[in-house]
Amino acid sequence: MLKEILDQGQRTIDATLERLLPAATQRPDSIHQAMRHSVFAGGKRLRPVLCMEAARMIAGRLPEGVEELGSALEMLHTYSLIHDDLPALDNDDLRRGKPTCHVAFGEALAILAGDALQTQAYQVLACLKCPAEARVQIIEEIARGTGTVDGMIGGQVKDLEAERHRPDAATLEYIHRSKTGALITASLVSGGIYANGSGVEIQRLRDFGRSIGLAFQIVDDVLDVTQSSEQLGKTAGKDTASEKATYPSLFGIDESLRQADALVATGCGALDPFGHSAQTLKDLAHFLVQRKN
Ligand code: IPE
Ligand code: IPE
Ligand code: MG
Ligand code: MG
Ligand code: MG
Repeated sequence: MLKEILDQGQRTIDATLERLLPAATQRPDSIHQAMRHSVFAGGKRLRPVLCMEAARMIAGRLPEGVEELGSALEMLHTYSLIHDDLPALDNDDLRRGKPTCHVAFGEALAILAGDALQTQAYQVLACLKCPAEARVQIIEEIARGTGTVDGMIGGQVKDLEAERHRPDAATLEYIHRSKTGALITASLVSGGIYANGSGVEIQRLRDFGRSIGLAFQIVDDVLDVTQSSEQLGKTAGKDTASEKATYPSLFGIDESLRQADALVATGCGALDPFGHSAQTLKDLAHFLVQRKN
């Protein structure tokens, strides 16, 4: 059942991205090839699936056009990965089982491909098929989630500054909630807004996202230590080599996984008032901590 949701979501998002991204032959073709290289390298599409399932839970069915919102989120996520892998940031050469964007296309095009995916995402968001007021709210929500104040870029900055510094638990939590949790929360909340959720419903999605977003990055840290590069599609053991601030380095693997499980339980609790209709999101939350890549 969950596998079907994930597979179907991935297919829907891949087809929508194919339609929304400029063709590989569109002038200037080099950048469109670079964007497509990273977008279609085979991501799990978890943020779009969380967004679409949040919308389905609120509306009782998948609202028409929500896959375009999901695709914009995936463009933003992919932009963050391209820039995260750059030599000036994490300096990685493997991503989604393929050479990173800068390895395949050079640093200049990789920087621009990341920029371009961000720009393209907002173009898609501006054209969403929902009431204008919801559209503006969604754009604000996503801009905040990826911004500098408790958002993705802010978290990336602190992540880099924390290398080799072994931060305290509170700083590490801030980094993980910001660099990764904030976009996951924005994915759920924007799906809820698209489906015309009430203020209370949106708050429950936000609480759920706050918990599972942190759990997601804790598990990402654990997988870096426990899995192979082949399994991950990205360089294993990279965090230790770079002396990154991670949950396993601060708490050990078992305690990190215990915290991730506890966060999932708390997050799922926030969805209890939705009753049975929240089951898919709860299943996804459990999948996030059990995943192997
Ligand atoms: C990886 O995200 C980067 C993090 C924020 C931890 P995913 O694990 O969702 O990567 P893809 O999209 O499946 O490649
Ligand atoms: C990435 O964190 C967070 C963002 C891309 C915003 P990581 O640096 O841990 O992600 P991976 O492990 O390279 O995918
Ligand atoms: Mg990083
Ligand atoms: Mg990285
Ligand atoms: Mg990582």
